[in-house]
Amino acid sequence: MFHPAPAPVPRARVADMAVYVPDGRLTNADLAAMVETSDEWIVQRTGIRERSIAANDQFASDLCLEAVRRLRERVGSLDRVDVVIAATSTADYVFPSLAAQIQFGAGLKHAGAFDVGAACAGFPYAINIASAMVVSGQAREVLVVGGEVMTKALDYTDRSTCILFGDGAGAALVVPANERSYIERSTYGCDGEGGKYLYRTSIRHDIAGHEDDTGLLRQSGSDVYKWAVRRISESILEMLAAANLTASDVDWFVPHSANLRIVEALCTRTGIPRERTLTSIETYGNTSTASIPLALMPALDDGRVKRGDRILMYGFGGGLVHAGTLLRW
Ligand code: UT7
Repeated sequence: MFHPAPAPVPRARVADMAVYVPDGRLTNADLAAMVETSDEWIVQRTGIRERSIAANDQFASDLCLEAVRRLRERVGSLDRVDVVIAATSTADYVFPSLAAQIQFGAGLKHAGAFDVGAACAGFPYAINIASAMVVSGQAREVLVVGGEVMTKALDYTDRSTCILFGDGAGAALVVPANERSYIERSTYGCDGEGGKYLYRTSIRHDIAGHEDDTGLLRQSGSDVYKWAVRRISESILEMLAAANLTASDVDWFVPHSANLRIVEALCTRTGIPRERTLTSIETYGNTSTASIPLALMPALDDGRVKRGDRILMYGFGGGLVHAGTLLRW
């Protein structure tokens, strides 16, 4: 149930964040013992050295609830949260939603809850929706959580996908803005015709002429790669131009950590310096909706990112969908 009539506000902001990764580690050497690959190939082609992996009995809800517990410690209270939005492709169940499990597990008695299905772009999608809910007065505060157990949805005989992904969660609290700290722009995009390049089947088993009833992640890596480099760099430049900004106005760029080569290509094409770009791919792998908070968190904690800095988060993935959030931290 919503709290009675919160007032509309001019802008929303991200008050704080927290992350959690499971203790399990899966190294390139571990993978080389499972499929025909090598540490050298994986590092050269992806930048990944190791990744986090959830235990058999650890699910997305467990990771998300730990991230939320940590966020609550940082912000003091989540009592004003009216809505929980969870972004995930690896929820424990189709329903109840991951957000409903978080609402219950975190004891957020008065909050509504729903999931966002935007694959690896889920975190900016959810932050943008949360921002709109706070600005419109539909919610006082919104808890956004991106959490994944990608390693439970992988085919460990397919060397082109199983080396890429890892598990983790990130939580953020979206609240009314203040003068220095606010979300300044949100964009969304989709190229649905590319859905066949990255999918997990569910009730329906056929997609674009392929039959697959495993429910495991399937990807045409080079097609997604080319799309990401071309389309996402264009979209970032369009987003900056629409805000009357250029690459030099961005203090911190936090793209989805899909592959280090993609990130580097996005930097080259947009003109955003690599030194101003935060990534999580090297130590956590591609953690889908958790990759952006996992990249940002160390820089928040060690003081590199300061209040008032301009951050550009940009997510992209299965759909093919993408979304960006430009904000003043
Ligand atoms: O987060 C959601 C969005 N997803 C992405 O952004 C992923 C985008 N794609 C990628 O990151 C890359 O395409 C991959 C890392 C998946 C693959 O790298 P690539 O440089 O595009 O390689 P490729 O698919 O063009 O394959 C090149 C070769 C092939 O061998 P042949 O046909 O040239 O003999 C593959 O069979 O590399 C081979 N290969 C491997 N070799 C060793 C593929 N995977 C591996 C492997 N180890 N793990």
